Amino acid sequence: MSHYDDVPLRFPEGFLFGSATAAFQIEGAAAEDGRTPSIWDTFSKTPGKVWNGDDGDIADDHYHRWESDLDLMSEMGLQAYRFSISWSRLLPHAGSVLNQKGADFYSRLVDGLLDRGIRPIATLYHWDLPQELEDQGGWVARSTAERFAEYASVAAGVLGDRIAAWTTLNEPWCSAYLGYGSASHAPGRTEPEGALAAVHHLNLAHGLGVQAIRAAATNDPELSVTLNFHVPLGDDAEAKRRIDALANRAFTSPMLLGRYDEDLLADTREVTDWSFVKDGDLSQIHQPLDFLGVNYYSTVTVRMWDGEGARERNDGHKDVGGSAWPGSEMVDFLPQEGPYTDMGWNIAPESLEDLLVSLSEQFPGQPLVITENGAAFADEVTQTPDGPRVHDADRVRYLRRHFAAARCAIDRGVDLRGYMVWSLFDNFEWGYGYSKRFGIVRVDYDTQERIVKDSGLWLRDLVQAHSATVAA
Ligand code: FCB
Repeated sequence: MSHYDDVPLRFPEGFLFGSATAAFQIEGAAAEDGRTPSIWDTFSKTPGKVWNGDDGDIADDHYHRWESDLDLMSEMGLQAYRFSISWSRLLPHAGSVLNQKGADFYSRLVDGLLDRGIRPIATLYHWDLPQELEDQGGWVARSTAERFAEYASVAAGVLGDRIAAWTTLNEPWCSAYLGYGSASHAPGRTEPEGALAAVHHLNLAHGLGVQAIRAAATNDPELSVTLNFHVPLGDDAEAKRRIDALANRAFTSPMLLGRYDEDLLADTREVTDWSFVKDGDLSQIHQPLDFLGVNYYSTVTVRMWDGEGARERNDGHKDVGGSAWPGSEMVDFLPQEGPYTDMGWNIAPESLEDLLVSLSEQFPGQPLVITENGAAFADEVTQTPDGPRVHDADRVRYLRRHFAAARCAIDRGVDLRGYMVWSLFDNFEWGYGYSKRFGIVRVDYDTQERIVKDSGLWLRDLVQAHSATVAA
């Protein structure tokens, strides 16, 4: 039992219920209609990088099945759909020359959403950097931020009359520290200083991207960024401060306050002098946002290593040797209390509530949207007289408690505007390939059959209960 089980799930009028995906994880059609490889194509085809050698060539085949997928979203009553655009589908050759077939795909998708009354929320960068840009230095190179601004401008030129809300980046923490630090994500480099340069160039890309979209869009869209917040727990204030600085404030301070914090610069002094930050960059990065996207799954429990005994690396990410914590390698990540999801992540809805409250205290007046929350479990298909079903009671319980935590945060004054469940479909879970299922819709990878899981039906009922109130 959890006290959240008794919290009535009533959300304010206008609260948006939706679900999220990302291009590389669902689209497939990797080499079709002019798309060129992204760093995740290259990485997943490098032996040993991804579970079972899985790749994104077919994924959920959403590129071909988009129309019936939209019908399914409509049947599920989704009010919003957060998806991402594949950069190398829209601009296959690193420059700014548009691939019309790529543009047509996203244009059809967005029209299909609008026809069904579903609000499109587009993420520009969900980790799939065009390989050609990685070959020119990737996020360690400043020029990638400039290329991103061009991409944002082109994307807004194509879709900027119809997208309701844009998210520049998804979880730049992962792009920088897992991509260029620990090497558990593409492009798989282990460069401590490069990881921090990537942090800055992603921040710069965000700021330039926001300005480019505002200039090119014609429908006055909402602008945002999605961050994955680390919620450090434990008794060690210094360890918690370090992780908060490196994981959270490295992004929120420049984006929302226009500065890098002194303690972050001091913690990383041995790694870099931050000379990649040029005059004027911080004012480019610091742009007003209509909402801040919050991704939340679990917590970390940290402690400064005392120099003795084995190191503890339970930070929730694959340990492939490199460090995701440049300058703070002396912080240990302790094992945490269960229950756990199939990712081994601890389930802690109360920390979602605390995180939302803490963000609204740190950034008063800043609206928030949960852009991802959900759980992987090892689902089973049950044959019933009504057809195949997935009775994913664990996921329903997980979602119910996290929605309740969000409701409690609203009661404590948080301006939370919506909740996107990760994920609409089972999909390519990065280094874990297809071994982890996060969907509220099951995907059979042999037949591409979709089955709405009990969690998907639960979300449909939650949305319906709210629509009924509004209509009444
Ligand atoms: C987040 C990613 C998303 C998905 C979930 C489980 O870090 O943004 O693509 O992999 O985790």
